[in-house]
Amino acid sequence: MPARPRLVVLVSGSGTNLQALLDACADPSYGARVVAVGADRDDIEGLARAERAGVPTFVAKVGDFSSRENWDRALADKVAAFEPDLVVLAGFMKLVGETFLERFGGRTVNTHPALSPSFPGMHGPRDALEYGVKVTGATLFVVDAGVDTGAIVAQAVVPVADDDTVETLHERIKTAERAMLVESVGRMAREGFTVDGRRVRLGG
Ligand code: GAR
Repeated sequence: MPARPRLVVLVSGSGTNLQALLDACADPSYGARVVAVGADRDDIEGLARAERAGVPTFVAKVGDFSSRENWDRALADKVAAFEPDLVVLAGFMKLVGETFLERFGGRTVNTHPALSPSFPGMHGPRDALEYGVKVTGATLFVVDAGVDTGAIVAQAVVPVADDDTVETLHERIKTAERAMLVESVGRMAREGFTVDGRRVRLGG
């Protein structure tokens, strides 16, 4: 990793994880900087957060392209224009494809609101609640071609309360998730990391 590695963050929604990274990056000693924020849709709070922080934004909507592959290539091109050292998917609700992974595989991480390998997919908090687990949490992983299957960088555990709804559980997860994301991305930036099969080690 170079000094103060360049982060491109991709979002689809409220962007509270992005905000946690933007806040952390405001301190140069954190060791990384957000150079751009991308999204797969317009008019989301995640993009507004980036604009308020003076960070350039871009949008690539699947529906604007003739195929998923073309969208994936366009997304990869837009990300590449900002020369990232690390790409962070922070509530990005699309699977990136082959072209994206050819270019950014091994240096793209995603945060998922469940303890992998349990409850992959779009509804981690709901699925955990329905299953009746007593603990769940968040997982940061290096993106591969599967759905939330990549090698695990970090996990954070939260309890499930008897009276939880999907919303209260997800909010508790997100509190732990933001802290995990900020701590882990900071360590990746400052100390480097290696991926050896399924094992991710921080500290080069
Ligand atoms: C986060 O909990 C993230 O893990 C989840 O969306 C939320 C985004 O919150 N992502 C997924 O479920 C991806 N499959 P935010 O927009 O407030 O950061």
